Amino acid sequence: MSEEKVEIHRGLKGVYFDRSAVSSIDGKAGELRYRGYSIHDLATRSTFEETCYLLLHGELPTADQLSDFDQALRAERTLPDGVMDVIDAVQSAHPMEVLRTGISALGAFDPDVDDNSLDAALRKSVRLISQVPAIVAAHQRIRTGLDPVPGDPALGHAANFLYMLKGEAPSEDAAQLMDVDMILHAEHGANASSFTARVVAGTQANLHASMTAAVGALSGPSHGGAAENVMKMAQEIGEPENAADYVKAQRKARIPIMGFGHRVYKAEDPRARHLRDGVKRLSIEMGEPKWYAILEAVVEAMQPYARKGINVNVDFYAGVVYHLHGIPEDLFVPIFAIGRVPGWAVQGVEQFEKNILIRPLTVYNGPGFRDYVAMEDR
Ligand SMILES: CC(C)(COP(=O)(O)OP(=O)(O)OC[C@H]1O[C@@H](n2cnc3c(N)ncnc32)[C@H](O)[C@@H]1OP(=O)(O)O)[C@@H](O)C(=O)NCCC(=O)NCCS
Repeated sequence: MSEEKVEIHRGLKGVYFDRSAVSSIDGKAGELRYRGYSIHDLATRSTFEETCYLLLHGELPTADQLSDFDQALRAERTLPDGVMDVIDAVQSAHPMEVLRTGISALGAFDPDVDDNSLDAALRKSVRLISQVPAIVAAHQRIRTGLDPVPGDPALGHAANFLYMLKGEAPSEDAAQLMDVDMILHAEHGANASSFTARVVAGTQANLHASMTAAVGALSGPSHGGAAENVMKMAQEIGEPENAADYVKAQRKARIPIMGFGHRVYKAEDPRARHLRDGVKRLSIEMGEPKWYAILEAVVEAMQPYARKGINVNVDFYAGVVYHLHGIPEDLFVPIFAIGRVPGWAVQGVEQFEKNILIRPLTVYNGPGFRDYVAMEDR
């Protein structure tokens, strides 16, 4: 196909590749819904467990359904010994590489690994929702010379993650903020990692392969890496009064400001406001109001760009929340991954359910036909 005859959508910008009943995004209005429910209602009234059920099953659970689902999640927090050995062996790598390797290794121990039926895929989804935070926490303990902490069945998902990470139960407030953070990250349409998950599921590879690939996609700074970079930016800025000069210098060098801009949202990312409130509260509570002040000074300096549709995204505030919780920067993306597991899982399930191989085309723009040249003539 010659270049003039086709319209190329680089980066698949604006291209609809399928239908999905999982989440809807209105980028212009700045709205996000999971299965029809507003992210604002879910962030303020739901829990991560309930949101996972909603995403996987399509409806809000009854009290009994939620209780059974929650019990199933709590029962899956232990990692196979073989996976612990793998984590130990790769402990010096970045936590996202460890997570990608750990999820891949989990496939080797999962009794349903190659069964892509709906029932098996849902069982694997529950296991992965519980096992992914266990990998992140175990790795953090191992690489800092501490023993991994087994899950506490008395704690909910978010609180249990913080417990396994730090070895002590978090305050109610800290657990609640982490719960909200996970709800906000749970699902987001055809983002790069979920699209990756669907491409892999579309070949009828298994859910572990699909999620392993998704974690690889999330690890890049244009996607999940932004929260880590926002914290680095805040540290580099140092004081609120330096923010304007920092923004000016970055823009002059045409470097994007981390935590701003989005492929779909042209209004403010609706997830940002829930974390903004959290950062404000936490930074005052923890005696570090500077961080909130720096972020707000960056927002102020970015005002001229807001008119062009470049606004804060969810990652702008997330990193500072984690920092205030004493979580190291290289765990920020893995925490995003912990929240996104149900989204990847349900998109894999949806792909399996009405599968089609995802295989687009590229327009060739290399050299025309050439005669092969023998080695001695080159
Ligand atoms: C997320 C992101 C990759 C989306 O990019 P995209 O849809 O491909 O949009 P583009 O990179 O083509 O940007 C379009 C315009 O907005 C500008 N822009 C986009 N993000 C910007 C940012 N964070 N800071 C300043 N300008 C930005 C670009 O410079 C470009 O301007 P131009 O047309 O004058 O060249 C991009 O906004 C970005 O790199 N953001 C920072 C990283 C981040 O926070 N990622 C997390 C996303 S949840």
